[in-house]
Amino acid sequence: MNTSTRRLAAAAAAALIVLAVPACGSGGDDPAAQNRTGRGPITFVQGKDNTGDVKNIVAKWNTRHPDQPVTLKEQTDNADQQHDDLVQHFKSQDAGYDVVTVDVVWTAEFAAQGWLQPLEGDFAIDTRDLLKAAVAAATYQGKLYAAPATSDGGMLYYRSDLVPKPPATWDELRADCDIAKVHGMACYAGQFAKYEGLTVNAAEAIHAAGGQIVGADGKTAAVDSPEAKRGLGFLADAYRRGDIPKEAVTYQEEQGRQAFEDGKLLFLRNWSYVYNLATEDGASKVKGKFAVAPEPGPTGIGTSTLGGHNLGVNVYSAHKATAIDFMRFMETPEIQRQVLVNESNAPVLASLYADPQLLADPKLGYLKTLGESLNSARSRPVTPFYPAVTKAIQDNAYAAIKGDKSVDQALHDMQAAINSADGS
Ligand code: GLC
Repeated sequence: MNTSTRRLAAAAAAALIVLAVPACGSGGDDPAAQNRTGRGPITFVQGKDNTGDVKNIVAKWNTRHPDQPVTLKEQTDNADQQHDDLVQHFKSQDAGYDVVTVDVVWTAEFAAQGWLQPLEGDFAIDTRDLLKAAVAAATYQGKLYAAPATSDGGMLYYRSDLVPKPPATWDELRADCDIAKVHGMACYAGQFAKYEGLTVNAAEAIHAAGGQIVGADGKTAAVDSPEAKRGLGFLADAYRRGDIPKEAVTYQEEQGRQAFEDGKLLFLRNWSYVYNLATEDGASKVKGKFAVAPEPGPTGIGTSTLGGHNLGVNVYSAHKATAIDFMRFMETPEIQRQVLVNESNAPVLASLYADPQLLADPKLGYLKTLGESLNSARSRPVTPFYPAVTKAIQDNAYAAIKGDKSVDQALHDMQAAINSADGS
């Protein structure tokens, strides 16, 4: 090669490199294409391990996979704080969060932002045996972005030693509040602090009364209606009358559980994880004195909001092959059974809800009610703009319950705020 040919060759090579850079920028830099076979230690991030059992599950995995250990990173027990913590880590492209716990209402936002590894190809998950609603809540625009891990349905905890028959309607619940008075207890609480739990509770009241939050397109607000007024009005009236005690507007799941376990509450709307804790906690004063029933509604059984958590692989994780194996492990019948029996959490393996042996087990006294709650549960709005939608619901439901706004005004404002949630 003479000098000029060499120069030409060098120039051609340089041109190739220049050409290669943009190609690399659009394909090779795609974080979802990176580290797909990476194995090694991973961090599993979830909200506070209230039941204490997730530590045991992680320990089980670690014994079996000493070269790919999982470290559990617990966030707080507040759903909004969990969300914001994840968003912060995604935004800084932090590889330190490998497997993240995705509340059913965050799937759309995280997927639309490109923060979750799509579960396709090598990463596909077999969803055939899982609850359909849990799979739907992990799917965005036809693609699975998270592996269903636990579901959640609301139930009414009641003091079976004081209330002979659980209330089937709101009127019956109201009437039973006299029993609470006689015993110097508060009557009813749910999650009424201003956070995601309030969205759950407000949606339940609105749906139970035949109202909707968004219309058939899943987007346009439909909450400014007489039905929704009846639903939210039930909570506002109960607070005004004192059936919902003043302190309940500070309650998240854990504060309500505490009050119920302390014997201070006749009725509590909560998720199934409370069942085992209220039965087994050393400090619980209600062991053997409570049971669960479907949540009441205006004319009969109410409507639960669908809750639950799915597991996603952070697109920036360096050890995605380990992450996906760990997620599959969480869906095995062994772990799903453990979730049910040790945590009284709602498994996503559908067959467990119809297992005659489990249904007959007195320790699982909540299983039938939980299955029914999940069967009729309604989703919260599915949208990448969910943070603004839930804020519209929380802020206005809170103001209505506390009496700072009329129910009419609150629903009117909620409607407007939902419709501007996408920034338009
Ligand atoms: C539970 C539910 C979740 C919900 C949260 C609200 O953790 O599983 O879906 O958003 O409660 O506090």
